[in-house]
Amino acid sequence: MSTSSLTEIAANLILNANHVTAFTGAGISVESGIPPFRGKDGLWNKYDPGFLDISYFLHHPEDSWKLIKEIFYDYFGKANPNGAHHALAEMEAKGYIKAIITQNIDNLHQMAGSKEVYEYHGSSKQLVCLNCSKIYSADEIDMTKLPPLCKECKGLLKPDFIFFGEAIPEPANSKSFHEAEIADVFLIIGSTGEVAPASGIPYIAKERGAKIIEVNIEPSSYTNSITDVFLNGKAVSIMEKLYKNVIAINEI
Ligand code: APR
Repeated sequence: MSTSSLTEIAANLILNANHVTAFTGAGISVESGIPPFRGKDGLWNKYDPGFLDISYFLHHPEDSWKLIKEIFYDYFGKANPNGAHHALAEMEAKGYIKAIITQNIDNLHQMAGSKEVYEYHGSSKQLVCLNCSKIYSADEIDMTKLPPLCKECKGLLKPDFIFFGEAIPEPANSKSFHEAEIADVFLIIGSTGEVAPASGIPYIAKERGAKIIEVNIEPSSYTNSITDVFLNGKAVSIMEKLYKNVIAINEI
C-alpha cells in the first residue's frame, strides 16, 4: 500500500480517536541538525556512551563535562524545531493530540509551541547542583570553566537529564505511563525502541488496546511487533502530510 493511502488511514485513526498520544525519539530532531544516537551518523558510533554513566560523571566530572558541553551545548544547543515538531504543536492546539512523551532532551517540542510535553529523560535546558539542588538555566552558566560549579555552594552542577544508571524523573514517569493506559492511538516518531524503560511505554499502550502509528525512515523494534500503520519516511515530510490529511478530512 502506498505511503499516501497509509497516511490517510493514519489520519482517520487520529480523527476517530478519543485520546491520541505522541511518543518521540531522537529521529524527530535529526532534521533540526541533531544526530541520532544509533544508526547511520549515530553519536554512539563516535562517542563512548560511558561518559554519560552517572558513576563516571561523579568520578571524572571534568572529562565527562568536556564531552557533555561539546555534544549537548556547543553542537545541539543552537538547534531549532522542524516541521515535524510544528505539526505536533498544531495538532495539539487543534485538539487532535493530547500529549507528547519525548525521550529527547533538546526542548524542541516546547520551542515549537507544544504544551503537554513529558520529558522522560529530563532536559538539557537546566543544570542542577548536586549539593544544594539549586536549578540554573543552562544559558546562565559559563561553560568555559569545567566542570561548572554552583554559585551558591560551589557544588558540582549536572545537566538536568538522566545519565545511564539514574532513575526516570517524576512527574514525567507517572504521566507517561498514565498516557499509555488511556491513549487509544499512539503515534511513535523516530525511535529505535531499544532503550528501556522508555521503550516499554508503547507496548503498554498496545496491550491496553491502542492503535500504533509509527513514523520512521527504517523499521524499528516496534515495526514488526506492535505497529499497525508504518509510515516509512522522514519525520518532517511524513508529519506535514499527516497533519494536512487530518485537516483535509476534518473539513469535508
Ligand atoms: N525521520 C524519522 N526517523 C528518523 C530520522 C528521520 N529524519 N532519522 C533517523 N530516524 C530514526 C532512526 O531510524 C532510529 O530508529 O530515529 C531513530 C533514532 O534512534 P536512536 O538514536 O536510538 O534514538 P532513540 O530511540 O530516541 O534513543 C532512545 O537512547 O541513548 C539513549 O537517552 C538516549 O533518549 C535516547 C534513547
